[in-house]
Amino acid sequence: MDNTVKHSIHQIIENRKSIRGFANYHISEEELNSLFEAARWSFSAINEQPWNYVYATSENENSFQQMLSVLAPANQAWAKKSSVLIAVLAKLNYTKNNNPNAMRLHDVGAANMSMALQAVDLGLQLHPMGGFDKEKLKSVITIAEDYEPVLMMAIGKKGENPDLLPHQLDSENNRGTRFSIEEFAKKM
Ligand SMILES: Cc1cc2nc3c(=O)[nH]c(=O)nc-3n(C[C@H](O)[C@H](O)[C@H](O)COP(=O)(O)O)c2cc1C
Repeated sequence: MDNTVKHSIHQIIENRKSIRGFANYHISEEELNSLFEAARWSFSAINEQPWNYVYATSENENSFQQMLSVLAPANQAWAKKSSVLIAVLAKLNYTKNNNPNAMRLHDVGAANMSMALQAVDLGLQLHPMGGFDKEKLKSVITIAEDYEPVLMMAIGKKGENPDLLPHQLDSENNRGTRFSIEEFAKKM
């Protein structure tokens, strides 16, 4: 495991980070559309585009609180200061033939990464969260029968969060370790 970026990569890839310290910031319609536009142009198996997003901005307090209530308490503690909470859904079957889409999670994850990188370009950060209650989400938003909840995401501008636990503060200020290239890529 290593902590450094050893080879040249784009600044927005290098600067993306799942932060927990958010500033008070109201995200604009334009910024949201820019994020969704980034998802829109992501690749997907047979161009199915299985992603679907339901969001609540911090300006809309009632919806935001409902979305927040779905998160695991440890995630609520910091995500409450984000600017927008997004529920990520995936379409289960291909529209073309109704066969199960085994690639859906790959494709939804790819679209999410496009959004995460676009967020960095906008001066924002996106934090993905697997820690949420899927059943509770179903009571907060309407999810069509042919969709499943995949993930929640918090997006906002970096700021101080005095409530963070010591290990969270530590991770806020340090880049996570990564496998070396030799550990996950080899020439055939
Ligand atoms: C599918 C997925 C689920 C995650 N769930 C959580 C979560 O519930 N809570 C949390 O604080 N971080 C969560 N994360 C963030 C990861 O911990 C983070 O991406 C990882 O430590 C690498 O750090 P980085 O994104 O800053 O590079 C999740 C990330 C992914 C991709």
